[in-house]
Amino acid sequence: MSTYQVAYFVGSLSSTSINRTLSKALIRLAPDDLEFTEIPIGDLPLYSPDFDEDYPPEARALKDALAGADAVLFITPEYNRSIPGALKNAIDWASRPWGQNSFDHMPAAVIGASIGQIGTAVAQQSLRGVLTFCNARQMTAPEAYIWFKPEVYTEDGEVTDEDTKSFLRGFMEEFRAHVERVLTVLPRD
Ligand SMILES: Cc1cc2nc3c(=O)[nH]c(=O)nc-3n(C[C@H](O)[C@H](O)[C@H](O)COP(=O)(O)O)c2cc1C
Repeated sequence: MSTYQVAYFVGSLSSTSINRTLSKALIRLAPDDLEFTEIPIGDLPLYSPDFDEDYPPEARALKDALAGADAVLFITPEYNRSIPGALKNAIDWASRPWGQNSFDHMPAAVIGASIGQIGTAVAQQSLRGVLTFCNARQMTAPEAYIWFKPEVYTEDGEVTDEDTKSFLRGFMEEFRAHVERVLTVLPRD
């Protein structure tokens, strides 16, 4: 059985992030042959083309982590109807230098949680536009707009509601199938 290496971004820098809780839940419920590594975004400087000749260590680590991954998963809050600046900054680093876009042909999926009922839908549309330009191979269904209910999750990501658990497990099973499908026709070097 092959194992797929999944790099994941949590779009929040909050120490009490509900999206981090969601990431823990997703990892718990994912198929066994997915292995997860978080790519930290909080210590990245703001991207500038001035760095293209000589990336700083944090950005080099981000590029290396993506180069070693088979797929990428984004778990993000919605900020002002888009994605948080810290996440966009990380994506900008990954997409450069020109010609060395880390997301090129990479299997990807997007999910997010909000305290509001729209459940990051608008942020996810924004993120999808960015990832389309970055030529990532996105899973388009199922969509997952999570209206976060604190009572449904323990701090370490255990899901106590059966319907939520089943939905999130299904999302990760579809993600695994998507990764396999994409890599069958677009193997990573
Ligand atoms: C700057 C800012 C902008 C926000 N904008 C939105 C928004 O557009 N839509 C939404 O549903 N929630 C919005 N929220 C509320 C977030 O959904 C809520 O803070 C959530 O807990 C953030 O996720 P996190 O806990 O993973 O950081 C915003 C919060 C902040 C701090």
